[in-house]
Amino acid sequence: MMLQSEALELSASRTRDRVIVVEDGPPNLWLVSVVDTKIGAVIRRATIEASPLKKPGVRCIQKLGERLLSTAGMAGSILILLNRLCPAERLAPNQLTSYPVPMLAVSPGIGAALSAPAGLERFVLIDFSGRGAIALVKRGSDGQVVDYTASNADLKGYLGMGAGSDCGSGDLLDDWTQCSAPRPALRSPARLKRSAIAFLRGVRPLLDSARSFGYGAIFCASRLFSHGDVATAFLRAVSSELGSHVRADVVAGEDARAISAARHLKDARRGPGTWESADDSSRTLSVIAPRRVEYSVTHIGRPVFDVDEPALADLLEGRPTMFVIDKSVDAIYGEALREYARRHLVCRGIVPIDGAEAKKTWPQVEEICASAIRNGLRRDGVIAAIGGGVTLDTTGVAASLYRRGVRFVRIPTTLLGMVDVCVGIKQGINFGTKKNILGAFYPPMGGINDLSFLSSVSRRQLACGVAETVKMAIVRDPMLFALMEAHTGRLLDSRFQFPKNAAEQIVIRAELAMMNELQPNLFEVDLRRLVDFGHSFSPALESASEYQIHHGEAVAIDMMLCAVIAARRGMCDEVAVRRIADIYATAGLPLVHDLCEPRFLHDSLADIVIHRGGDLNLVVPTGIGSATFIQDTSRAEISGALDHIRSIDAEVRERNGAAYACAGS
Ligand SMILES: NC(=O)c1ccc[n+]([C@@H]2O[C@H](COP(=O)([O-])OP(=O)(O)OC[C@H]3O[C@@H](n4cnc5c(N)ncnc54)[C@H](O)[C@@H]3O)[C@@H](O)[C@H]2O)c1
Repeated sequence: MMLQSEALELSASRTRDRVIVVEDGPPNLWLVSVVDTKIGAVIRRATIEASPLKKPGVRCIQKLGERLLSTAGMAGSILILLNRLCPAERLAPNQLTSYPVPMLAVSPGIGAALSAPAGLERFVLIDFSGRGAIALVKRGSDGQVVDYTASNADLKGYLGMGAGSDCGSGDLLDDWTQCSAPRPALRSPARLKRSAIAFLRGVRPLLDSARSFGYGAIFCASRLFSHGDVATAFLRAVSSELGSHVRADVVAGEDARAISAARHLKDARRGPGTWESADDSSRTLSVIAPRRVEYSVTHIGRPVFDVDEPALADLLEGRPTMFVIDKSVDAIYGEALREYARRHLVCRGIVPIDGAEAKKTWPQVEEICASAIRNGLRRDGVIAAIGGGVTLDTTGVAASLYRRGVRFVRIPTTLLGMVDVCVGIKQGINFGTKKNILGAFYPPMGGINDLSFLSSVSRRQLACGVAETVKMAIVRDPMLFALMEAHTGRLLDSRFQFPKNAAEQIVIRAELAMMNELQPNLFEVDLRRLVDFGHSFSPALESASEYQIHHGEAVAIDMMLCAVIAARRGMCDEVAVRRIADIYATAGLPLVHDLCEPRFLHDSLADIVIHRGGDLNLVVPTGIGSATFIQDTSRAEISGALDHIRSIDAEVRERNGAAYACAGS
């Protein structure tokens, strides 16, 4: 029975930052904790009688909720129920929204899982509390639990240990979790160690299997680990049994669970569902639905339009498809495309467009949409783009608009298209004097990268792709930079056809580096992006030159300017600047351009600040393979950096003589 004083204390804690967590406690009692989520601490703890709540299920939770609300007068507080009696691992959050306070039932394990250190993304959770439980937990990069598999049947299925296969360890798990007797072995460190070793040996096949799925760490939750010596003994047993490559952590005590559960309630209320909340003056109904983004870029060994190459037909899955192709690319590869389409695809038209940067504008988008209407492209159809970044971008914008969006496929034919455009989800066109000012985040269905297209790309255009590749190497991947130092000359001479291994390695490393950077921030909620390196001064340069300076060239000039600014501030080694300049010399990329005038460059940043939500976020390298952001620069600083670059430029030109044919200067 709850003491009156406790009830009063509880009802006094009715504030928005407080969450009430209910767990099953000692026999016939519920443990009720009031957690202050702001400071992350349990501020009140009490038990209440559990006897009328013997039947498991939603009703049981509702009854308990009613009792807490009426007996303890907790209306206005948030209530979470961690209920081992619940039949489901986790009740749907919106099953309980009929209460005047937000309410949620979760498996206790989820609460414990949330206590795991932030760095653990996939781990095995062993919960020694009560009858014990074992679960696989996957968390997103933001630390939230995105997958939680706790029932033994689920676990076995997950790990491919279905009936009939070797599920000995699964049986052991069943035995272990179904054994209701208290485990005396867990009472002393020495006995805990012995029983832990026996247990770990038993579940080792299961842990090995889990590990092969990328679940590296073990995380153990139990109030038993409140005893430091027990926790230490257990961790030692884990590392001597399973090897030092397994990371093990423990969370101790009930309070930690209550805190993490409270955190979970807050998170869950931001999760999928239809939510209702109210305060004294208003009522709000909200819809929260997840959007899954999934696309792949496939590399193939044969030309994509080779009639024996299935990749494109496989990707399109027999859907009616309209192709939009760069006119110049059509002139070289159009016949092969038509033959491939005739044999393998449901083709709803091939639309050639002008792939020049100056034509990356609204009229071409309109033209593509008009063609889709004329060709009767169905809503379940696909628009596939074939060409460089201009064609991919223009077509992407059209695909995002036609019938409010149809499936979109990209087949890049330039190096820049492969390592950059094809990897992300942005589609943009130029408007007025502004580059890429209109557009959409519109994930594609997929892309195919076929390096054989590069054999017909001009050297100047390939160098633009080298610039975007160098960008990823500088901000993220020193090994990629070293590969480029070793191979760029030969690769450009052979139009990226030889050495084949080096070409593939460089392109794939650059794509992966880019994907790793983009994936956690696909929709650019965070406006501090390392991939913006080289994209601060460059849009204005491109546009002011009326696109005579190509995209990759403008990016190269911008990167050099930022690298020199960093070097002059002492943030980056001068040697790194020289290494970048040397790759430019090999590729024929410009270090600087006549349009680079301090006032113009400095003024152009005003628009970048608008684009980046009020911050400059200028990306500058801190070496080869790492970068950071600076928030201010001045005309004088830019001017000093440009003088510095011009002296490097003169030096490089002299060293390389006639071989240095700089495209953009
Ligand atoms: N959406 C994004 O995430 C993203 C990222 C980076 C760049 N971009 C955009 O990409 C554009 C630059 O793309 P790009 O460098 O690929 O240039 P591009 O599309 O302008 O193509 C360059 C030239 O090469 C020709 N060409 C293309 N493929 C060829 C081939 N296989 N053989 C012979 N000629 C070929 C084209 O006709 C064109 O004249 C810019 O507009 C830039 O803003 C977009």
